[in-house]
Amino acid sequence: MTENTNTTTTRPVLVTGATGMTGRRVLSQLRERGVETRAASRSSAWAFDWSDPTTWDRVLRSAGAVYLVQNDLDPRTPEFVQRAVALGVDRIVQLSARGVDGPAYFEGGGEPPAHLLGERAVKASGLEWTILRPGWFSQNFGEGLLVDGVRAGVLRLPTADGATTWIDAEDIAAVAAAALTEPGHQGRTYELGGPRALTMAEAAAEISRALGRTLRYEPISEEEYAKGLVAEGWSEAAAGEMVVALSAIRRDLEAKVSTGVQEALGREPRDFSDYVARTFHAGWGRS
Ligand SMILES: NC(=O)c1ccc[n+]([C@@H]2O[C@H](COP(=O)([O-])OP(=O)(O)OC[C@H]3O[C@@H](n4cnc5c(N)ncnc54)[C@H](OP(=O)(O)O)[C@@H]3O)[C@@H](O)[C@H]2O)c1
Repeated sequence: MTENTNTTTTRPVLVTGATGMTGRRVLSQLRERGVETRAASRSSAWAFDWSDPTTWDRVLRSAGAVYLVQNDLDPRTPEFVQRAVALGVDRIVQLSARGVDGPAYFEGGGEPPAHLLGERAVKASGLEWTILRPGWFSQNFGEGLLVDGVRAGVLRLPTADGATTWIDAEDIAAVAAAALTEPGHQGRTYELGGPRALTMAEAAAEISRALGRTLRYEPISEEEYAKGLVAEGWSEAAAGEMVVALSAIRRDLEAKVSTGVQEALGREPRDFSDYVARTFHAGWGRS
């Protein structure tokens, strides 16, 4: 356990998105460091709803630092940051996304500009800030967007032969925990990716070996993918945003290896094979 000597985090650290892929891991890594935490989301111990500002002050009051995970469907980072300033927060670590400042990266999408507006608000707040810009998370296969496809044995996606440097959410959380509790990360924007790019077919092949059964990748059109999401109950807008986000993979923009983990932590990021070995095994997903 690392002793917590930073004055910002002698006060509790508020972790929004506390049940999510990164928030859960940020919480556990902060607790390992001996940091007092507040787990906040609609279903967490600290009830917090982005769409209900009357829930914001209670979680922010007397917090020293905030891990900020926006709700992409209703992004309200600028207003939230104002309340954080008013209530005496010192530091914000914002989860953003790779490519948000690239003009052609998320062409036509609503979500990335919202991340960018959030980044601007955080940077203009006068607080200490760190921005995390991860690419696609490895955890999408086991607990996120792609988990149903992994269970069903086929990933049907509009990503053609594009490759991605899948980032392990444990590494995102490690960078977040460092930035929330240590000096030296303020005013930094970290682009976070894994050490090598894998296509969907290559990722599926690695997962297949761990599962002991075949996981296939089937490229489909963006139209067909969006229709499928809507049939599952997604709104047209949310389906459209996901298509735009995935188009960065199709256009090979996610294949670039980035160095944010090394810059922040002084070590290499975890490889995709590490995530696969920790997560998948024969019988996975049957219970
Ligand atoms: N997935 C990727 O590959 C990827 C890549 C780059 C960037 N990102 C960004 O990462 C962010 C998502 O982070 P994540 O993957 O760690 O989370 P996540 O797994 O998507 O989970 C979402 C979290 O937000 C909470 N939440 C949802 N609606 C809420 C609301 N109205 N009020 C308060 N909390 C709410 C959920 O908890 P409750 O249900 O309990 O409220 C949950 O803890 C997004 O901004 C996304 O753009 C994702």
